Amino acid sequence: MKTYKTISCLLILILPHLLFSQKRDIEDIKTWKFFKGENKDAYKIDFNDASWQDVQIPHDWAIYGPFNKDIDKQIVKIEQNNEEVATEKTGRTGSLPFIGTGWYRTVLSIPESAEGKQILLTFDGAMSNAEVFLNGKKIGNRPYGYSYFYFDISKELKIGEDNLLAVRLENESQSSRWYPGAGLYRKVQLITKDTVSFKHWGPTITTPYITGEMAKVEIKSKVQGKNVRVETTIKDSTGKAIAFNSNSQRFGDEVEQNIPVEEPNLWSPSHPYLYTAEIKLFKDGELKDSQEMRFGIREFKYTPEGFKLNGKVTKFKGVCLHHDLGPIGTAINKAALKRQLTILKDLGCNAIRSAHNMPSLEQLELADEMGFLVIAESFDEWKKPKVKNGYNQHFDEWAEKDVENLVRATKNHPSIIMWSAGNEVPDQWGSEGVKRLHWLQEIFHREDPTRPVTVGMDQVKAVMENGFGAVLDIPGLNYRVHLYEEARESFPQGFILGSETASTVSSRGIYKFPVKKGHDITYPDLQSSSYDLEYCSWSNIPEEDFVQQDDHDWVLGEFVWTGFDYLGEPTPYDNYWPSRSSYFGMIDLAGIPKDRYYLYRSRWNTEDETLHILPHWNWAGREGEVTPVFVYTSYNKAELFINGKSQGIRIKQKDSLLERYRLMWNEVLYEPGTIKVVAYDENDKPAMEKEIVTAGKPHHLKLEADRTNLTANGEDLSFITVSVVDKDGNVCPTATNQLSFKVDGAGKYRAASNGDPTSLEMFHLPTMKAFSGKLVVLVQSTTDVGEIELSVSGKGLQTGNIKLQSKTINP
Ligand code: GAL
Repeated sequence: MKTYKTISCLLILILPHLLFSQKRDIEDIKTWKFFKGENKDAYKIDFNDASWQDVQIPHDWAIYGPFNKDIDKQIVKIEQNNEEVATEKTGRTGSLPFIGTGWYRTVLSIPESAEGKQILLTFDGAMSNAEVFLNGKKIGNRPYGYSYFYFDISKELKIGEDNLLAVRLENESQSSRWYPGAGLYRKVQLITKDTVSFKHWGPTITTPYITGEMAKVEIKSKVQGKNVRVETTIKDSTGKAIAFNSNSQRFGDEVEQNIPVEEPNLWSPSHPYLYTAEIKLFKDGELKDSQEMRFGIREFKYTPEGFKLNGKVTKFKGVCLHHDLGPIGTAINKAALKRQLTILKDLGCNAIRSAHNMPSLEQLELADEMGFLVIAESFDEWKKPKVKNGYNQHFDEWAEKDVENLVRATKNHPSIIMWSAGNEVPDQWGSEGVKRLHWLQEIFHREDPTRPVTVGMDQVKAVMENGFGAVLDIPGLNYRVHLYEEARESFPQGFILGSETASTVSSRGIYKFPVKKGHDITYPDLQSSSYDLEYCSWSNIPEEDFVQQDDHDWVLGEFVWTGFDYLGEPTPYDNYWPSRSSYFGMIDLAGIPKDRYYLYRSRWNTEDETLHILPHWNWAGREGEVTPVFVYTSYNKAELFINGKSQGIRIKQKDSLLERYRLMWNEVLYEPGTIKVVAYDENDKPAMEKEIVTAGKPHHLKLEADRTNLTANGEDLSFITVSVVDKDGNVCPTATNQLSFKVDGAGKYRAASNGDPTSLEMFHLPTMKAFSGKLVVLVQSTTDVGEIELSVSGKGLQTGNIKLQSKTINP
């Protein structure tokens, strides 16, 4: 007994050291000094940065504004939008100050224990034209702001000393078609490992053979160092070890292991089951490196009968997403990403396209965990420009390296089921473009033989003629539903992907009369109507896509433009000011669903029922006027009542484009009161009902948090939706009250957003107007544990409060 105790005490003392020396050490480099502007000497060791701003990264220097009409103002003709003359475009890139130079500096204290180790400096992205300096010497650069990249800095580092790391970034005007953000907006890390170890982005895990009884997990580990052996333990989702393999047979720099997993649990959006491979590297019996990698076992095929996931036809119910996170800009934040995906889950969405660039690694981790299929995209431009200073400047020199890094960094994510080599690249025209496509697609295939490649194509006639569409693994069509049939016949693949669809525009809670369907409709208040009938000259209303999806097995699914609104590209108001963010989202910039969300939900969410009425019912001044009512529902049939009077029953009509998917009462005359819809099931029994009432005057504020328990890590966020309500608690749908925010306790105010694309109020200031009766406040945890209280006040309104709790990571 005594001996046992002594040994265990000894072990306790020794173990942390053993663990440290055995495992790679990964450190987030979070704390930096920042300067917005040029400073030629900022890379030098003895440069004094005391007056610079202290920042934590991820950081987006431009999101703090102010909005300014002249930032990146462009007098251009947007050819993709069928424009024939150049006009002044404001707001195209969000009107936020992202252009110019920014410098970051930090000190890396490297301990003596790092002597003889390999040390890598990794960036998940840096916006943009990064130049990296270590101890006054340039160690490398990376132009593309969305690319993952790294440097081996073992030789340059001074061990046991402080080392100065400086990063210069520069964003040019006319370099983007949307708000790109600015700065070190994704993680930067230092990885310290033995020189005998897995190479960076090390093991590749695939599952090439799957039956109900058995799956083969193939792990190819790129290693460095002689006489190594790789040992892998596969663990199920509870952490239980279920399979083991040890191998020292090496071909070149690769050790391959084939590990059977019995009765595999397959990964899918509805069952995102993840295994973990604990992969260890030994030399002469000594543990040198170890990595834990999550993976999923799933099998997919693209066929004329559809996309088959684990043998089951699965239509892509997808959305395109830009990378900005609304009011916090592009600075990556896992809580904000998780909220987006939680909202998309409720929508019934099963897929995401990372438009038009590399997704963040955090988003992919969440997609694996929560169950989303991902098209990981690379470029919006190849060699031919869309914007003067876009990727066309870098294509020749960097495209191969950028694609390699995209695949190598993300290949083990089960969520990724397709690569995209580009979006609406003007290279679709001409034979040079076909060669470029061939070249790029082969790089993807070389790096990853398991996934196919698409390009979102908009020049459908051209790509049918010149062979561009025929070369692709997956022909993706952006819009042009009228050409789907012809394209399928012309292309050899036998199927079409709706790589980008709809581009319907709307502003949350805004309705225009008379209700009309059409493209490029504009109004003096620079808003678009939420009757969901307005779109762009190149696009369409959602139903045009629904028909294709529902009537053709060979249409693999759709990726709607877009899931969430984003900063920049304020079509149809590109030529108007103030207008600085998109109208395309089913969900606004604040993360509040627009009506359109429920139209998609009524089709996509097959687990839950949907019954949604529009418009709101506060139309003082419209008494007796025609005010159409639309209902988006998963039911086939419903009856509408206004103040108890039936307005008739509507049933979905298969042969009518609109009435096939929405129930419409076009002749309703407005009278204030109650509007109620009753949905009937197949047996004509009332199955569900919804009602809205004409709200009274704004009286108090209702606060609802997406999460009330936060982690005290200084990064976690709670999103609190604030509604202006009348004395009975009904949302006042036209309220625009100026609200103010105050946070006390273990948290701080981070930002607010109201979803109004024309608002020039800054997100980080603790005051904002409600838009259509609502806005969202973001409260961030600090590293303190305890209670957080948000109070929201507004003139003439009762103040609203909500309490949150912030707890330690491992309570
Ligand atoms: C597409 C393009 C997207 C966005 C969209 C707006 O043509 O791929 O990036 O611009 O149009 O409708």
